[in-house]
Amino acid sequence: MSKYTVLGIETSCDETAASVYKTDEGVLSSVLFSQIDLQKEYGGVVPEVASRSHLEKIRPIIQKALDDAKFTIDAIDVIAVTTKPGLPGSLLIGLCFGKTIAWALQKKLIGVNHLEGHAFSSFLENDVPFPHLCLTASGGHTNLYLINGFGDYTFLGQTLDDAAGEAFDKIAKLINLPYPGGPEIEKLAQQANFQDFFKYPRGQANTLNFSFSGLKTAVMYDLIQRGAYDLKTKQFSPSPVTLTHSTRFACSGRLERLSADVSAIQASPDAVAKGDGWKDLSESKGLELKKQVASSLLVCVKDIFIHKINYALKSHPQIKSVSFVGGVACNKYLKQELHTFCETRNIQFFSPSPKYCTDNAAMIAFVGHYKAKQGKFEDLSLDIF
Ligand code: KG4
Ligand code: ZN
Repeated sequence: MSKYTVLGIETSCDETAASVYKTDEGVLSSVLFSQIDLQKEYGGVVPEVASRSHLEKIRPIIQKALDDAKFTIDAIDVIAVTTKPGLPGSLLIGLCFGKTIAWALQKKLIGVNHLEGHAFSSFLENDVPFPHLCLTASGGHTNLYLINGFGDYTFLGQTLDDAAGEAFDKIAKLINLPYPGGPEIEKLAQQANFQDFFKYPRGQANTLNFSFSGLKTAVMYDLIQRGAYDLKTKQFSPSPVTLTHSTRFACSGRLERLSADVSAIQASPDAVAKGDGWKDLSESKGLELKKQVASSLLVCVKDIFIHKINYALKSHPQIKSVSFVGGVACNKYLKQELHTFCETRNIQFFSPSPKYCTDNAAMIAFVGHYKAKQGKFEDLSLDIF
């Protein structure tokens, strides 16, 4: 058999997703329930909350994927399910559901590595030439792969500590932005025109591994130095006076308005301190600083990504194309900058639509599909380890 209709199931973290992929027709449906609103109040993903939500959503999400594709489960040949890496309690729900369908309805079963799904996600919408370099940047991973064919890839580098998305999330938290931090950082950075105000350290060592935990520390100490972060209370606490002083330094175009702020405080410090004037001033300076941090951070991460891609291209001159995938690849600025960089090197650049950058089941069904064509089926002993 060389044609397959695959049902993909993805529950590795905080998205319950299902998709139908068919030979010659591609993605017929891709359905997702995101727990972002559930997890927001915790400032991250709580595994127990994630598992319970998957359990509640998995059946209706799979049903919707079948309905959208206008299929019944009878038309499915293969169940492709994410088995690793991820939260064990979440993975187990997708895997048990997939195995049950496979056992009860005599379907073929394939386990898919979530990261292989991301690595091939730009192939969902494009004919990507091999050899190919893929940069995967998400909340849990920052990896570089050299891909020579379907299922044929080697690992070139990874983060040694925090992932790029995790750095965005943690730094966003430092400056009181909601979770997930990446989209908020992008919004604010755009308002500051993607300028590099604070020149955070790039750590440009010639290796294909990444490290982002130092960047978070550097941002935190820079904020402390600006009098805008209290290490004891772990609070972002911009004071109007300090900020007026530091913002003055960074934004020459606003000097007049900022001087007026200082004069107002100096003229009536008690009134300002007691009343709303002080609060407003503090909030407006806080916002200005947030924009500057976000913008400097994004430029810094852009430089790090370009440096690593450049180094990989030099070390592997046979590479014909580059892709940028994972949740962080939703970032239009990073996408555009990497695209421009690849153009200058005559290398084709690909990045999936946002719906295939973040966790989704279409990428899992796609990998399941080529594994099915390669005859790589599994039995019911399939596990998450
Ligand atoms: O791939 P993904 O949805 O889930 C994981 O497997 O982690 O990635 C989520 C990550 C989060 O850290 C989020 O802050 C980041 O992707 N992210 C972004 C943007 N949108 C999401 N980072 C930067 N800019 C964005 N626009
Ligand atoms: Zn992911």
